[in-house]
Amino acid sequence: MHSAVALTPRVADIPAIQEPLLNVSDLSLRRGKAVVLDGVSLALRPGETLGLIGESGAGKSTLALALIGLLRAPEVQLDGSMRFRDTELTQLREADYRRLRGNKIGLIFQDATAALNPCFTVGAQIAEPLKRHLRLSRWARRERAAELMHSVGIPEPRMRLDAYPHELSGGMQQRVMIAVALACNPELLLADEPTSALDVTIQAQIMELILDRVRALNSSAIFVLHDLALGAQVCDRIAVMYAGQIVEEGPSEHVLAAPLHPYTQGLKSCVVELGSRRLVPIPGQIPPLNAMPGGCRFAPRCPKAKTICSEQRPQAETRDGRQVACWFID
Ligand SMILES: Nc1ncnc2c1ncn2[C@@H]1O[C@H](COP(=O)(O)OP(=O)(O)O)[C@@H](O)[C@H]1O
Ligand SMILES: [Mg+2]
Repeated sequence: MHSAVALTPRVADIPAIQEPLLNVSDLSLRRGKAVVLDGVSLALRPGETLGLIGESGAGKSTLALALIGLLRAPEVQLDGSMRFRDTELTQLREADYRRLRGNKIGLIFQDATAALNPCFTVGAQIAEPLKRHLRLSRWARRERAAELMHSVGIPEPRMRLDAYPHELSGGMQQRVMIAVALACNPELLLADEPTSALDVTIQAQIMELILDRVRALNSSAIFVLHDLALGAQVCDRIAVMYAGQIVEEGPSEHVLAAPLHPYTQGLKSCVVELGSRRLVPIPGQIPPLNAMPGGCRFAPRCPKAKTICSEQRPQAETRDGRQVACWFID
């Protein structure tokens, strides 16, 4: 009975048993007086994928950067908790963060041209985490780098090990960054709009590739996306973020089929109308950080808002297996 690997059922079969890999609880992030993240709570089990969805300026990248320890005091003030297995990330020293980053937690940015170093070959950049975290020998690093390049669909990887980033196309550079992020088989992958800097013709391909690798490694992943339908298609769970708050979180199929929060409903109608060639965006925009309304931050744009919405912040409630923060859930 100890061959746990073969007997482990899929995550979805045993929701209550597994400890979360990542548990973010009441996390707030301030830049000076501006509350950029406000009481964010999320949990991710091993092997689970989460789509973090919301308009530009919602705070998605801020959350990803905070998780990976690139936004820290004194630049920002963090309150609340981010636990990765048994490690409290908000308290972690930089030296300890360096042992997690690129090792147990991988990061794929939106823009590979900015993330890759133009002065080093792609082989050297893929090999760097293998040296730093896994202490592989020079020969083993080169072998593994070529394998990784092959696994992310780079043709003739041995010939390309010594190429510099600018010698590769944007799509190939993105693949290199994915190889760097996955080099040490991270338990958690953060992918911040991993395809939005790419040509539409290869976006789906790259998304497929990342998902395929995440599944092959049985890693957990957070995909930052602004498209609700795409998020629901590729992720197990969806968290909808508005103005630094999670307004709805739950299983993808439920959130997409029957969104409960008026903001999620608005995002969904954008999707549907887009399908019929008419884009009806939610009127208005995210308020600036220095003028955030008290109460529900979505209230000024919400078709259902009543007096209480602008006065008191709705707490997240469990409804239909989801967390929803709204005073008027249908
Ligand atoms: N370096 C920064 N300095 C000050 N404010 C920032 C910085 N980066 C982002 N912000 C602000 O934080 C908020 C959240 O931004 P961001 O996390 O980039 O959102 P998203 O990734 O969802 O588009 C926005 O109001 C943005 O203007
Ligand atoms: Mg962003």
